Amino acid sequence: MKSLPWRLRFPSRWPERKVPGPRAAPVVDESAPARVVAMPGLRALPRPALRWVGNGGKIALRPFEWNADADAICQWQIETYALNFPDFHFNEAFASAFRHDLRRAILDDQHGIFVLDEGPSGGKSCGFIWLVVCQNSWTNERYGYINNLYVAPEKRGQELAGALLDFSNEWFKTRRISKLRLTVTASNSAACRLYEKNGYSVTRLEMEKDI
Ligand SMILES: CC(C)(COP(=O)(O)OP(=O)(O)OC[C@H]1O[C@@H](n2cnc3c(N)ncnc32)[C@H](O)[C@@H]1OP(=O)(O)O)[C@@H](O)C(=O)NCCC(=O)NCCS
Repeated sequence: MKSLPWRLRFPSRWPERKVPGPRAAPVVDESAPARVVAMPGLRALPRPALRWVGNGGKIALRPFEWNADADAICQWQIETYALNFPDFHFNEAFASAFRHDLRRAILDDQHGIFVLDEGPSGGKSCGFIWLVVCQNSWTNERYGYINNLYVAPEKRGQELAGALLDFSNEWFKTRRISKLRLTVTASNSAACRLYEKNGYSVTRLEMEKDI
């Protein structure tokens, strides 16, 4: 690389440091209305709601918070895996491996984890979705993957999973992703219908047999 002449690389005179002068006192307009408007439930949430969903829009969809949500999400996997992998035995080793992956995901900006939160009644998480931006290393194709989705039993049938999937479409679109994929076990009929209703169709089959 051709080196720059000395005078271009260093200023002949270092700029003087700007010393801040005395700060002007803030002007307080007593007549201005309060800027923070009381919003029910907002303060109860660990992080601001991205949107309000569910019947009456009372459930907040917000970003995942490790301290508030990790235990619940790990616990929900017992049902999810029982439904999707009936022969699989959920054990300590699996639980800690899942927790480890969840922890790593929050450090990776290709992952997005969002939680449903009952909000005003005390910030109780009641569902979640885990999204991943993937890239096929052979074809370089980028696609979105729905890695995990769950709605607590007492909140089912209120179109909350549908709201999570709608949100995932937007999240991926802002990342210039136009193809979404997911994997679901055929015996999980509720999830299969949910995905079909939300525009997913079967494009590949994973086949197996016992020998
Ligand atoms: C699958 C699951 C996410 C659905 O959550 P939900 O909030 O109740 O779903 P929604 O209310 O948004 O339902 C939307 C559609 O999904 C389908 N669906 C949902 N639950 C269903 C059920 N029990 N039986 C049949 N279809 C069902 C229906 O088509 C429904 O629309 P409709 O009621 O107008 O027919 C929830 O049952 C769940 O968390 N299950 C355990 C975890 C799991 O299996 N996750 C998927 C992993 S692949």
